[in-house]
Amino acid sequence: MLKIIKEHDGLKENVYFYKKFLNMFKLKLLTDPRWANIAEGNLEEILTDHAWCEQKAATNAIGLITMLPEYPEIVTELLAIAQEELDHFNQVHEIIKRRGYTFGRTRKDDYVNQLVNFIQKGGDRNDLIIDKMLFAAMIEARSCERFKVLTENIADDELKAFYKELMISEANHYTTFIGFARQLGNAEKVNKRWEEWLEYEAEIIKSYGKKETIHG
Ligand SMILES: [Fe+2]
Ligand SMILES: [Fe+2]
Repeated sequence: MLKIIKEHDGLKENVYFYKKFLNMFKLKLLTDPRWANIAEGNLEEILTDHAWCEQKAATNAIGLITMLPEYPEIVTELLAIAQEELDHFNQVHEIIKRRGYTFGRTRKDDYVNQLVNFIQKGGDRNDLIIDKMLFAAMIEARSCERFKVLTENIADDELKAFYKELMISEANHYTTFIGFARQLGNAEKVNKRWEEWLEYEAEIIKSYGKKETIHG
């Protein structure tokens, strides 16, 4: 998938391709582009929130590793994801420093907290791990969509390019997490559960898109 995006990079098919790209996630509700204006109005805030999102993504990947020691290939890929998220964290932090912004404390992420509530508890361990993979995939999908809205709608050239790059990276993470879920469980059951995640997410995302945070 990464390869295909690069092949289309800069070409006229971009718009068509981005649509296809988003269809891949099957998100039921897309972000109003006006959210990007809110974000651009307070770059210090969105960058601070974004930096912490990357830290949380790295922490989450490490947490998943502790649940899967018996799957060395998954551990290897999760380690790679954790490292990439830390690299993203570092990149955002560098931008904050270079611009002379203040790197504030970690922000509360109501959207992610609402997703946490949807993780199925009470089942067996494997089902919990699968649901945690889908939870991670959901955040990657929406973050990727938000990065797309930013790259297409903000005027800041450096950040435009930066968010385009990250959009591709998070799309790959989404694919990896969905792949893990299917590897660990019954594909049909996983697909059905993913559909439930998409429906739940579509309901909660309706009340967002108003704040200068990545998921706000
Ligand atoms: Fe990331
Ligand atoms: Fe990611």
